[in-house]
Amino acid sequence: MSKARAAKKPVAQNGTPNPAIRKIGISTGGGDAPGLNAVIRAVVLAAHNHGWECCGIRDGYSGMLSPARYPQGGMIPLNPQSVRGITHLGGTLLGTTNVGHPLHYPTQLRSGKIVERDRSDELVQALGEARIDAVVAIGGDGSLGIAKVLADKGVRVVGVPKTIDNDLDGTVVTFGFDTAVSFATDCLDRLHTTAASHHRIMVVEVMGRYAGWIALAAGVAGSADAVLIPEIPYDLGTVVDKVQKRDRAGAGFSIVVVAEGAMPRGGKASVIEKRLGAMDRLGGAGERVAKALQQTTGKETRHVVLGHLLRGGTPTAADRQISLRFGAAAVRALAEGKSGVMVALDPPTVRYVPLGVATKRMKVVPLDCDTVLTARELGMCLGD
Ligand code: F6P
Repeated sequence: MSKARAAKKPVAQNGTPNPAIRKIGISTGGGDAPGLNAVIRAVVLAAHNHGWECCGIRDGYSGMLSPARYPQGGMIPLNPQSVRGITHLGGTLLGTTNVGHPLHYPTQLRSGKIVERDRSDELVQALGEARIDAVVAIGGDGSLGIAKVLADKGVRVVGVPKTIDNDLDGTVVTFGFDTAVSFATDCLDRLHTTAASHHRIMVVEVMGRYAGWIALAAGVAGSADAVLIPEIPYDLGTVVDKVQKRDRAGAGFSIVVVAEGAMPRGGKASVIEKRLGAMDRLGGAGERVAKALQQTTGKETRHVVLGHLLRGGTPTAADRQISLRFGAAAVRALAEGKSGVMVALDPPTVRYVPLGVATKRMKVVPLDCDTVLTARELGMCLGD
């Protein structure tokens, strides 16, 4: 008997039998994060063990919604050979996008005007036509919100939480975060020596739109003197005090980490572009702090933006393991008849959280969490 025929018939959580799965579609959406390829590999290998076929959808769901854009096909057949040797590779072999939201799909009218259209019903239909029986949706809050809509429309779907920002609720951590923090920490180590040599203030901007997890974790690990996060609107005066106190103590330099979504007390995050069908583009938070610090302290101040560097490169061993566990757990969930859930890390295990719960609110840094307390106890300035 072929593996496909021998595969166990999935049974829904309520005990009713599900139609057998033959083919899984995999989608990666939103900003890329180290570990995406590892998740894809785990899904494909685990699905193969069930005798299930896999295909990847290009660029979120654009491969299905705008197939004409892909002369080579909007979908990529995936098998154990095609995912060989990709665990350590950054990016996603499927491509991704953060402007092709099926519920707000940017569409050009004859007049040239671009409007947003809800194309979710077309997507459900296209999945059916492609004979995709279940979807593994790998993404952040946007992509998992789309997954929830698909589940509500009857598509079997399991989500996998991705984002370097670590701002998804329901999971202890998302994959990609550890790699971003490790790289940012390495950069802080490097910046310490140059800042000390030049007696400067170095301001380092890291990603973190709504949540300051990367800034805080890297700031603590990399011994920053001040860390400014979106959760704590900052008073520049407190950072100036910190810098001057260090100078009086003979340090002569300071390192300030700024999350891209950080804002001054009573002010707003630095938006450089408003976009249709996509999030506002942030930028300039670090530069704004650097200019203000130089003006106020009179000390030479330079800034550096780590930005997309944090999203690239080889995933750390921790991120590879989480990614592989998430991918395998997503297939396990489908085999157990689960749908409409997100795989979540709950050490030492993984569990499943309803997509509606996972996407209900953003996981921001709680101001009484241990890392915030630690930062304060180490004498770090948090801008308040
Ligand atoms: O991956 C999340 C994130 O890193 C946010 O912190 C950031 O604002 C956004 O992606 C930027 O994405 P892009 O520049 O690719 O549009």
